[in-house]
Formats: sequence, C-alpha cells, structure tokens
Amino acid sequence: MKKTFISAIQEIKKIDNNTSLNNFQSKYLGKNSILYFYFSKLTTLNISERIQCSTILNNFKKKIKNKINDKKIELKDNRLINQKNKYFIDYTLPGRKIECGSLHPITIVIQEIKKIFSYLGFNTYYGPELESTYYNFDALNIPHNHPARNISDTFWLNSNYVLRTQTSGMQIRILEKNPGPIRAIIPGKVYRRDYDHTHTPMFHQIEGLIVDTSISFANLKWILENFIIQILKKNTKIRFRSSYFPFTCPSAEMDIQDKNGNWLEVLGCGMVHPNVLKNCNIDRDIYSACAFGIGVERLAMLKYSVSDIRCFFENDIRFLKQFV
Ligand code: DAH
Repeated sequence: MKKTFISAIQEIKKIDNNTSLNNFQSKYLGKNSILYFYFSKLTTLNISERIQCSTILNNFKKKIKNKINDKKIELKDNRLINQKNKYFIDYTLPGRKIECGSLHPITIVIQEIKKIFSYLGFNTYYGPELESTYYNFDALNIPHNHPARNISDTFWLNSNYVLRTQTSGMQIRILEKNPGPIRAIIPGKVYRRDYDHTHTPMFHQIEGLIVDTSISFANLKWILENFIIQILKKNTKIRFRSSYFPFTCPSAEMDIQDKNGNWLEVLGCGMVHPNVLKNCNIDRDIYSACAFGIGVERLAMLKYSVSDIRCFFENDIRFLKQFV
C-alpha cells in the first residue's frame, strides 16, 4: 500500500486539469481501484488482521481524499489567475461616471402647458397618431381638393388612414362623446412631410377646445394671451393675424416676436366652424365653441432661444444636457 501511495502522490503532483483529476480519483478510490479490491478481501482475514489492514486502508483513503481536495483548490486558483491574465484589468483607471438622466425639453414644455391649462379647468385627452381620413380631414370640414391632403404634405398609410397631420381631429372625437360644456387640451405628436430649420416631419401640438354657452373670440384671445404670458415672459410681444382654417370661422394665427425682432408663428385658432358643430350634433342654439392648436416646438424655441428646431430631435447630449 505504501508503494501505491508514493506513486499516487507523484501522479497527482503532475495533474493540471479537472478531467485528469477525475480519472485519478476513480483510479485510486473508485470501484476498480486497488483500494476497493483490498477492502473486498478484508472478510477473508481473521479479526486482528482485519483491524490492522482496515486501519491502513482507511488511512490511505483519507490521505488520497485530502490530496484530491487540495488539488481541486489549486486548479481553481490557477483558473482564476489565467482568466485575470487573459482579461487584464487595470484597477488604477478612473471609474466611469454615471450620468443623470433628465426630461426632454419638449416634455418639459408640454408638462408646463398642461399645468397652466389645468388651472383653468381644462382636462387632458390623448388620441391616436394613426388617424382615419374622416377625423383628420372630412369631419373638420377640409374639402377633398384641399392641398393639406396632398401626398407631398401627408404621410398616407392607405386611402383611409394617415399619420395624423394635426391634433384637431381630436376635437371631433371629444365633441362626439360630450354634449358640452367642454374644456379640453390634447397634446400629441403629429406628422408632415417637412424638413428645415423651423419644420421637422414629426412635431408636437397641443389642441385646445372650449365649448360653452356664449363663448366668444374675446374669450379665446384672453386665454391665449394669458397663456403666453405665463409660459414665456410678461413682456412677450404677441400679434394676432387673421387667417383661414376650414374648421374655424373666423380664424387667426398668433405670432410671437423673438429676441432678434423676428415674428414666429406659434399657434392657429378660431371659432369652431358651424359645419363641424353640426357634424357632431352640438346644439348651436345653446353652445358656441372656440379652438386652438399650439406648436410646442415653436414655443420651446422661443422659450429656450433655440434657432433650429432640428436640435430637439438630434439627441446631441451637449444640447440635451442644458435642460438637466
Ligand atoms: N390644426 C391647425 C394646424 O395644424 C392648427 C389649428 C388652427 C388648430 C385653428 C385649431 C384651430 O384648433 O382652431 O395648422
């Protein structure tokens, strides 16, 4: 047994992987091992020989088991050292800074607009970005030959559906469901085939709708002027220009003067057209209505003095960091 032990010790010293170690274990402790053979022969011996031999065999077994465990630890350590050498880690390098996220400037402006209108009793609604031609055009009194329907302005999905070009379609959805009175704003994305420093193919609008007894253009003007004073500055220069929208009559647009003295159009508005109210079965003997559609990016440009609208969607971290 002593000889076997010596050769086992020499053998295990050379082992450098787990497979060889497993083979070693079955060779010296397994069912076909010499140890197992001697154990099976113990019954042929008399009592005193049996005690003597079994002590020797158990000793051998215990020592080999210890050697195997030591080897296992050694192999594991070697593996870690090898791994460390393979993927060299320089612990002296400075750590990576975790940047703090923040709201997008457009989200900030939308939230602010919602807050201002909520103080005036407006509820917020949301509608689909994929809109039927009925809600986007027909019900808004937009004739079939109107240029806005043109393939060069609108993203058509098929002959019945478009990516909404305006949030005004939500006026109809709300009017259909509520007989009045109504005070609603509808923020959302809209899509048009446009791209330059004041236009992007996707931008945000906030539609507003007020339905009540004796609503007049003066009410509309007052609300919009006060809204602008709150979101921008008190001394902001505002002008209303008369305009045309098929779904309002009379219609107007509001421009705001930027710090260079240029006028920038920020919203369209007007008294809701009688045809639109009729389409939605609103009793015109009781109610009148006004509406407006605010261009969120335009307001944000004025608020933060941004001269190119495309900055908002280029995801340039240096630009976005300014709003943290
Ligand atoms: N939907 C119009 C546009 O996208 C803006 C607009 C004008 C909305 C007049 C209104 C409105 O609600 O009354 O240009």
